[in-house]
Amino acid sequence: MRNDRILIYGAYGYTGRLVTEQAIGDGLDPIVAGRSAGKAESLAATHDLDYRVFTLDDSSVVADALADVAVVLNCAGPFVRTSGPMVDACIEAGTHYLDITGEIEVFEAIAAHDTEAEAASVTLLPGVGFDVVPTDSLAAHLSARLPDATHLELGFQGLDELSPGTAHTAIESLDDSGTVRRDSDLVDVPVAHDVRTIDFGDGSTTAATIQWGDVSTAYHTTGIPNVTVYAAQPEATIRFLRLSNRLGWLLGSTPVQSALHGLVDRFVDGPNEAARREESMYVWGRATNGEESVVSRLVTPESYLFTSHSAPHLAARVRDGEAPVGFQTPASAFGPDIALDIDGVERTDE
Ligand SMILES: NC(=O)c1ccc[n+]([C@@H]2O[C@H](COP(=O)([O-])OP(=O)(O)OC[C@H]3O[C@@H](n4cnc5c(N)ncnc54)[C@H](OP(=O)(O)O)[C@@H]3O)[C@@H](O)[C@H]2O)c1
Repeated sequence: MRNDRILIYGAYGYTGRLVTEQAIGDGLDPIVAGRSAGKAESLAATHDLDYRVFTLDDSSVVADALADVAVVLNCAGPFVRTSGPMVDACIEAGTHYLDITGEIEVFEAIAAHDTEAEAASVTLLPGVGFDVVPTDSLAAHLSARLPDATHLELGFQGLDELSPGTAHTAIESLDDSGTVRRDSDLVDVPVAHDVRTIDFGDGSTTAATIQWGDVSTAYHTTGIPNVTVYAAQPEATIRFLRLSNRLGWLLGSTPVQSALHGLVDRFVDGPNEAARREESMYVWGRATNGEESVVSRLVTPESYLFTSHSAPHLAARVRDGEAPVGFQTPASAFGPDIALDIDGVERTDE
């Protein structure tokens, strides 16, 4: 029999642990899960939670494990590996699916399951962390301010320290090209193809284009056909990113990838609690129709702290039947003010 439980998969990873602790604080009593029995059991014992152990190799096995679960919150990334089997299993089991991805190809693959999910009365809501919740929220807000906008630019500043999983995900995309949306299509462009100065609200700084998930989600949310996403970057990083256009074959080769993943395993721990409490993120967006333009900004808590609050919050709202079924983005499900649900988020209009 289905109950109202939320299952957090990958709950013992860096972000999964933060999300689990906040879910407990929110009174959600989550089931924690993952593919390692030892790690899942140990996390469950620490917090006195139920746990489940299963790999994602066989969707039917996963569907059996989810048969009595209302919502899956997938924190196991890179999601390009984990989201496919988990989404299939959720549709089979009639369980709502959420994750914290920022990967364009994952959003597009999940969007392709829209009709199936709707038929199964299942909500598919990827991207319930930073940066997609703030940027998607800002995109919907800008679209409401300028309904005939044809071009949307989004950007963020403040992602100074990465978690292990974010670093692994970034390494795997080192040989990818950049991506923007042009006339409704996803189009390959060179990495960091556009560099500009943006005032994120904390003074002007240099920013370069990046291929983050908003290139996918902002279009699904607003229908604005041209979307470009920027991140504040030091000049040296931009030079390296531009170099990767010529060295992609090398950066994507097995020896270099293994060496970089090894370095992450040895040296990357993710921001500590003090950094999570002290840092802020600055999000900027501009919509234009060629004649007029509107600019809005958000200030949010540090990215991992933000995700630890937004992911369980949106999972609870989906469990409570507040989201439409089928493929959704944070703002298509909950409207342009969804980021303001999270404590410490402020929005300003220029
Ligand atoms: N959008 C956002 O707001 C946001 C914020 C933070 C993180 N992220 C993303 O979230 C992901 C996790 O980041 P993290 O730093 O928390 O990573 P992490 O500490 O390395 O943890 C990754 C977790 O995923 C599990 N996992 C990985 N591959 C798996 C697979 N094939 N099958 C089953 N489980 C698998 C790992 O389990 P094992 O230990 O058993 O391998 C572990 O529990 C990354 O992709 C990152 O980019 C997104």
